[in-house]
Amino acid sequence: MQRALFSRSALLAQQAAAALDSPLAARGAPLLQRLERSMSSVTIPPPACMLRPLEVPNRYLFGPGPSNVPPRILAAQGRPIIGHLHPEMYEIMNDIKRGIQYIFQTENNLTIAMSGSGHAAMECAVFNTVEPGESVLVAVNGIWGERVAEIAERMDIDILYSGSQKALNSPPGTAPISFNERACDKMFNRKTKPVSYLFDMTHLSNYWGCDGQPARVYHHTGPVSGFFALREGLAIVAEKGLEASWKKHKDVASYLYRGLEDLGLKLFIPDRDLRLPSVTTIAIPDGYNWRELLAYIMKHHQMEMTGGLGPSIGMVMRIGLMGYNCEETKADMALHALADALKNCKKSKV
Ligand SMILES: Cc1ncc(COP(=O)(O)O)c(C=O)c1O
Repeated sequence: MQRALFSRSALLAQQAAAALDSPLAARGAPLLQRLERSMSSVTIPPPACMLRPLEVPNRYLFGPGPSNVPPRILAAQGRPIIGHLHPEMYEIMNDIKRGIQYIFQTENNLTIAMSGSGHAAMECAVFNTVEPGESVLVAVNGIWGERVAEIAERMDIDILYSGSQKALNSPPGTAPISFNERACDKMFNRKTKPVSYLFDMTHLSNYWGCDGQPARVYHHTGPVSGFFALREGLAIVAEKGLEASWKKHKDVASYLYRGLEDLGLKLFIPDRDLRLPSVTTIAIPDGYNWRELLAYIMKHHQMEMTGGLGPSIGMVMRIGLMGYNCEETKADMALHALADALKNCKKSKV
């Protein structure tokens, strides 16, 4: 039955492709389509967009993530996939666990990568450690604090998470997360089950071989290619060395600060020590429309910079130079694009 369905849709796709190529296509198409429809149980034809090749522009991703993915990581992600429960996959997951322990500088045994973006890790942290009726203390200093406050009621537990798409330069879709003993005590002694099955650490700790059980059992189908890419991103940091990587981000950020100040721009965080070396926030220059500046930079330089999020929307523009993008040459490109935008975007009256 399934095979019949597959071959029928393949035939339809072929017919649609042939119809598009045919010189008689324009004249014959409506009749052909009616004929095909009457012969087929498929009522929705293959969408025309699916019959065109995928088009993806080349862009410089100088926002807060995703950042550009280096060829080495793209190649890792393009390797033939294997089963999510194959022993070799478990080895790769074990490597990922060690790599995350290194970048997080933790010996926490319960250290894994979520199958999902940063939000998956954020929700996993809350769903597993908070039970109904508990109260939560959340430090709200931006959009992520606001979101945690929205979904949580109690969180004074040591959990660390990130996303794959930032300084690790892997594609979005996996998220390192690590729980300390105190968090484990809380999670594994709860009275109620977490609301999410996918994010339930009782299952995930087994899937990642962190629960001391001899066998890992099926919980969900992990993003195999995403894990290949994440492993490669972690390997690059391990080869470079964490301290060298921190220093490089600081040095390139200082270089960028000088360039921004030379352009007459003001950094949003006056205290240098409070600034993130990976993402720099710039106060919107007086009289400019930030959306116009960002759109100009995208259109003329194929470069993504972003505005603020949540409470900082309309107040800042953000430049992220992370991992692979963390080079003075890339900072120069960003500065050049900004200078061009400042020159050419008319000062708005608003
Ligand atoms: C602290 C924090 N939490 C959650 C997220 C959301 O991550 P994602 O967009 O990968 O779901 C981000 C993204 O920047 C973040 O910085």
